[in-house]
Formats: sequence, C-alpha cells, structure tokens
Amino acid sequence: MKVAVLGAAGGIGQALALLLKNQLPAGSELSLYDIAPVTPGVAADLSHIPTDVTVKGFAGEDPSPALKGADVVLISAGVARKPGMDRSDLFNVNAGIVRNLIEKVAINCPKALIGIITNPVNTTVAIAAEVLKKAGVYDKKRLFGITTLDIIRANTFVAELKDKDPQKTNVPVIGGHSGVTILPLLSQVEGVSWTDEEVTALTKRIQNAGTEVVEAKAGGGSATLSMGQAAARFGLSLIRALNGEKEVIECTYVEGDGEYARFFAQPVRLGKNGIEEYLPIGKLSDYEKQSLNNMLDVLRKDIILGEEFINK
Ligand code: NAD
Ligand code: LMR
Repeated sequence: MKVAVLGAAGGIGQALALLLKNQLPAGSELSLYDIAPVTPGVAADLSHIPTDVTVKGFAGEDPSPALKGADVVLISAGVARKPGMDRSDLFNVNAGIVRNLIEKVAINCPKALIGIITNPVNTTVAIAAEVLKKAGVYDKKRLFGITTLDIIRANTFVAELKDKDPQKTNVPVIGGHSGVTILPLLSQVEGVSWTDEEVTALTKRIQNAGTEVVEAKAGGGSATLSMGQAAARFGLSLIRALNGEKEVIECTYVEGDGEYARFFAQPVRLGKNGIEEYLPIGKLSDYEKQSLNNMLDVLRKDIILGEEFINK
C-alpha cells in the first residue's frame, strides 16, 4: 500500500505521518509532499523510526512524484483558522490549493481513495468532486471528507460526562463539518440517558470544539494533534478495507443518494473500491430531526460554493 500525505510538513501532516509510520501495515510506503522545503527532512526524520514502512519526502511546486501509484491520498494542505475566523473564511486560499492538488491526483493516481481534511470541508470536497469529474475520473465511492475529528471529540465528551470508557463509546456524527452542520446523534449512544439540557449543551460543545482549540491556541493555529489522530484512524480504516477486511465502518462526508444534500456525512461500510455500502442514519430524536432540517440550507450553500468555484 502506498499512502500519500499532501500538506505533510504542517501541524496535521507531521502528526499524521508519525502515526502512519508507526501503524501502517508492514511493507507500506508513506509518501510525504508539501510546498515547504523542509519536507524531505521530515521524511528523513521519520525514516529513523524502526518500522517496516518506507518514507519518502517531496517538496516544491509539483506533487506528481509523491502521487504516482498512491492507493490512498490524504490532503491537509492549506491554511488554518485564527481566532475570530470561521472555517468559510479559509475558502479564498484553500479552494485553489485543493483544486490544484486534485488536478494532479486525477492525472497520477485516478483510482486512489482520497480523504480531504482541508477546510472548509463542506466545500473543498465539492471542489474535489468537480475537478475529478472534469478530468473524467470521478467515482463518488472513492472521495471522502474526513469528519472523524467530530466523532472522536463526541466520543471523548460523552465518555467524560457519562463516566464511560472513551475507547468503547461510539457517537455517530452526521451532516457536515462546520457549526450547525455538525450533528452528533446522542440519542443513539447505547446505555446512556439524557436530559434535554444535556443534549443541547453537549451538541453545542461538539459543534464548537474546533473553535475551542483555535481560541486556546490563541493565533497559533487549529487542532493538529487530535486531527492527526482522527486522520490516521480514517486513513487506516481505508487501508484495512483495501486489504480485504470486512465490517470497516466510518462516518464520513460523502456523495450519497442526495436525500438531504449532495454531500452528507453518514455511516458507510468501506471495501476494496471505497464505499461498499451506504448505511442508514437510523432513528433520530425530535431534537435531532429538527437540527437536521435546520442545517440543510447552510450545507447546501457550502456545496454550491464549491461546485461554482470549478464550473463558473
Ligand atoms: P498548517 O499551516 O500547520 O499546515 C498546512 C501545510 O500545508 C503547511 O505545511 C503548508 O506548507 C502546506 N501547504 C500550503 N499550500 C500547499 C500546497 N499548495 N501544496 C502542498 N502543501 C501546501 O495547518 P494545519 O493545522 O495542518 O491545517 C491544515 C488544514 O486542515 C487547514 O485547512 C485546517 O483548517 C484543516 N483542518 C481540518 C480538520 C478537519 O476536521 N477536517 C481539522 C483540523 C484542521
Ligand atoms: C476542527 O474542527 O478543529 C477543524 O475543522 C479546524 C477548525 O478550524 O476548527
């Protein structure tokens, strides 16, 4: 298996690369790319860790050498938020970065499974889809917006509040990855009961958790370590599925049947060709039904912004 990380010299990229160097199956290749000249040095640094994973680093304007033959491409290239900014404020810079990188993915590894981390995810995934479509290689079952950070946060916060083992807590999070579009399905957490006040407060905390980190870092960026962990979990799930493991299930932002929006985070079963099966979102509480309805205008606008960026 070859995994390419684009944006590999950044906060997320380096944390992700470290986790992958330690956790990818033996014999894998880790290919690191970033415009930053330090990238071959990051690869050299990681290569001294004694695991059977080869690491190569590439810098400069062209990601092609890093992408050739990649099975999985994880993209965290782009700018991060500072206090006072919304994820949508990153669009002006990150839209072009994602477009340019995906153009190269389409040429060099059109069959790769692609995970997009770069914000605003609600929009950058739509950009990636449209670029791949223009290049004639779009397969909706191979493109994912990585929303795993929302899930691990929800698991952590629920476990803290309800005195559970966070490793065994599983909160589905559906919708998208910003503000009201992040919808944790707390009613589906097994063995836990909630008051209305708890649900409202915890839903808000999960929706606002990115901002919690941005403010705590006080201008030094957004979540990198927890995101590295989340992206590693998602990337390793893709690899396990590619290797034939059954029952690999993740919530992720994908193009499905369009019932709520063209792209929507939902549980899917992963397989050798990406999405093997779209799983139902299950039974929602009245609060969750209303929250789902309330998010759809925002989510659909975010998606249209990405589509128009490529097609207008
Ligand atoms: P960072 O600034 O630490 O790293 C970004 C890296 O991208 C830098 O090393 C930079 O050189 C590189 N880069 C910029 N343009 C590039 C290009 N054209 N090609 C290759 N590399 C390029 O930022 P970070 O903290 O790693 O965050 C990266 C992105 O991930 C941000 O957009 C952030 O908002 C997003 N993010 C998403 C989630 C999520 O849940 N999906 C979570 C956290 C952060
Ligand atoms: C997060 O959820 O932490 C990321 O999307 C980064 C951000 O800007 O909040």
